[in-house]
Amino acid sequence: MSAVMNRNTQPSKYGATRGAIQIKNVDKIYDPEGAAVKAVDNCTLDIPAGEICMVVGPSGCGKTTLLNAIAGFHSITSGEITLDGELLCGPGKPQAEPGSDRVVVFQNGALFPWKTNLENVAFGPIVQGKMSKKEAYEKARSLMADAGLGRSERNYPGEISSGVRRRVEIVRALMNDPAVLLLDEPYRALDSLTKSVMHESLLETYYKNKVTIFFITHDLEEAIFLGHRVVIMTSRPCRPKKILEVDIPHPRDYNALTSTRFRELMDETMDAVHEEAVKAFEAGEKEG
Ligand SMILES: Nc1ncnc2c1ncn2[C@@H]1O[C@H](COP(=O)(O)OP(=O)(O)OP(=O)(O)O)[C@@H](O)[C@H]1O
Ligand SMILES: [Mg+2]
Repeated sequence: MSAVMNRNTQPSKYGATRGAIQIKNVDKIYDPEGAAVKAVDNCTLDIPAGEICMVVGPSGCGKTTLLNAIAGFHSITSGEITLDGELLCGPGKPQAEPGSDRVVVFQNGALFPWKTNLENVAFGPIVQGKMSKKEAYEKARSLMADAGLGRSERNYPGEISSGVRRRVEIVRALMNDPAVLLLDEPYRALDSLTKSVMHESLLETYYKNKVTIFFITHDLEEAIFLGHRVVIMTSRPCRPKKILEVDIPHPRDYNALTSTRFRELMDETMDAVHEEAVKAFEAGEKEG
């Protein structure tokens, strides 16, 4: 394959050289011949390399649809999506090929219960033939140690809490050095205390591995605490309604949550999201 590499070698403002996503005028219509559900409408969004881009919006507005298009799980109807200048999907290529440059961490992660956490983390690159067993285990151990998971190496997923499982899944996602992590409400099922530990742990992992993070959530506090920017989507079909720059410096810790600026940003986000949620609710009532 003679793919023309158009990688930006200059570090982005986040200090990363890969993982820039450009979404240009993307539409997604499910079942265009039948029910024709439009989930994404003329969506344009530029995500610089190494950004933590948080995406919020009413339930059913089309957030997961957009993430799935970036991941290559389904096609787009029109527009284009590029990664570091290379076309993922667009004219003549409706669907991106899934690739190890973009890794999805699912809400109900899929660790093999019969493998230890270390074996789970090392598994992917070994079966894909990308690393020898020795290399994979070395890298898995080092990533787990960096994430504070050294003591859970020999445990099985069933023996650790759901919070620790989530952390193992994120470490596993980093094994192939992806440019982009795609996270769809990864902490939804966790209680707020566990979530706060997850957030600090994710940021620590991010500071050590500058990947672009596309993170969908309904939790506005989570969005502002983690994000460089928060993209607030319209009700279905979605497109950015408002993009909020979170001007609280990184590295962040939990003191950020009590700052005046944090509360101001929460209010601003809440207003925009609430307006769209009401629209989605009213649209639902009309349809129902
Ligand atoms: N495979 C599909 N076929 C037809 N319609 C679909 C399909 N997947 C999703 N939809 C519809 O597309 C719209 C957007 O769905 P999507 O899952 O992207 O929303 P979301 O913003 O992720 O919602 P939530 O916040 O509840 O996860 C919804 O109306 C949904 O019913
Ligand atoms: Mg969703």
